[in-house]
Amino acid sequence: PLIGTGALVAEAAATGRGVGAFNVIQLEHAQAIVAGAQAANAPVILQISENAVRYHGALAPIGRAALAVAEAATVPVAVHLDHATSTELVAEAVALGFGSVMFDASKLAYAENVAATAEIAARCHAAGCWVEAELGEVGGKDGVHAPGARTDPGEAAEFVAATGVDALAVAVGTSHAMLTRDAALDFELIGALRAGVPVPLVLHGSSGVADEHLSEAVRRGMTKVNIATHLNAVFTAAVREALGAQAALVDTRRYLGPAREATAAEVARLLGVLGAGR
Ligand code: G3H
Ligand code: ZN
Repeated sequence: PLIGTGALVAEAAATGRGVGAFNVIQLEHAQAIVAGAQAANAPVILQISENAVRYHGALAPIGRAALAVAEAATVPVAVHLDHATSTELVAEAVALGFGSVMFDASKLAYAENVAATAEIAARCHAAGCWVEAELGEVGGKDGVHAPGARTDPGEAAEFVAATGVDALAVAVGTSHAMLTRDAALDFELIGALRAGVPVPLVLHGSSGVADEHLSEAVRRGMTKVNIATHLNAVFTAAVREALGAQAALVDTRRYLGPAREATAAEVARLLGVLGAGR
């Protein structure tokens, strides 16, 4: 069933589990992620980024599809708007029935980030929507990797108090869109953030993190773990293989189907790495 992100993340945080938050671009991603979660008997978060919305030209078609896939699932599934910078898009997601949004003002200076995020958090909370924000910019979204960015624990605690957000994305050594899984996580900083910040922590750019370091990050206090690029790599490799094997193939189901299956298997495996199963 479709479940609120807040309840899903709170349960994981209380029991020391990780929650996989996987990005949906095509319908097949949503189906694969839910199939993988069901295989792992784990709750999961489907997330749609503002960039994916830009690709589709609108939120509603892919957003409603993700919500419908979540409703039909046999495990709890939350639907989340990822990396939103547009307040209109946030309002649209809330109206569509998304349980949560990430408002990303991490490019702004501290005071402006606080002001913009606090306003969004108040509006979302009035509508019963859970809010994630980011402090200390996790790079790589624009192709410029900055794995050296760090979130200061004291500033993070102050930011959460000043904005009222429900979860915080922090910079601890990852960068978005890495194709190799060799990011060096700052585990000491994860521990310090966990000790000092009263809301669940979110790891972005997790495609660049090796399995054992993902497990360790959860053990040290990360809860929501965002993975996008790595699943696309798995999906696309399967498409390439299917197309390469059959030059006369034209039916899209014949290559998207195997890609969906390969992605589901990887989601199930990753949920095991995150200790997300019940
Ligand atoms: O918000 C989404 C994530 O941070 C995904 O990052 O594509 O590097 O896994 P990734
Ligand atoms: Zn991200």
